[in-house]
Amino acid sequence: MKDQISVLISEEEVDARIKEMAEKISADYAGKTVHLIGILKGSVFFMCELAKRITIPVTLDFISVSSYGKGTQSSGVVKFNKDLDETIEGRDVIIVEDILDSGRTLSYVVDIMKRRNPASLEVITLLDKPDRRVVPVTLAMTGFEIPDKFVVGYGLDYAQKYRNLPYIGVVDQLGDE
Ligand code: IMP
Ligand code: MG
Repeated sequence: MKDQISVLISEEEVDARIKEMAEKISADYAGKTVHLIGILKGSVFFMCELAKRITIPVTLDFISVSSYGKGTQSSGVVKFNKDLDETIEGRDVIIVEDILDSGRTLSYVVDIMKRRNPASLEVITLLDKPDRRVVPVTLAMTGFEIPDKFVVGYGLDYAQKYRNLPYIGVVDQLGDE
């Protein structure tokens, strides 16, 4: 049997919301260049769709972090596997995240980036599970608030699978293949 996945947020709904988010960024940062920082790998799909719809100049960079913890629980002890390629000093930075859960990983990343003296620093996320928050994170914008369920698709994985689903799905039942 295959894993059973049901649609939580359709492709059309996600795309429409990303377009709105891009329009807001284009208006808020008018006259500037916005520097998007994606957290690999989950945020890649969201970041591409967002960047394509932003109408002001955009530059991109990526970091990769691992958060140590027991099972699915992150600990807040974060290791940088890949740091930024370019300096963010004096730049208008938006950190782009796929999903905000406990907030441990993102709050650590935000603290490090703040110390590098960007002109401005905001955080946006496609999905937020507010019920799960342990460490507060200030968000400039959220795509969708979702219930405390494990979701996949649009960059989000279950054991590295399903990142390529064009919608946000919930794993209802795990298969045996
Ligand atoms: P946090 O440090 O607990 O906020 O961890 C957030 C990270 O956990 C996200 O960037 C995702 O990589 C992962 N994550 C949290 N919830 C989910 C989910 O429902 N599906 C897939 N990955 C998730
Ligand atoms: Mg992530």
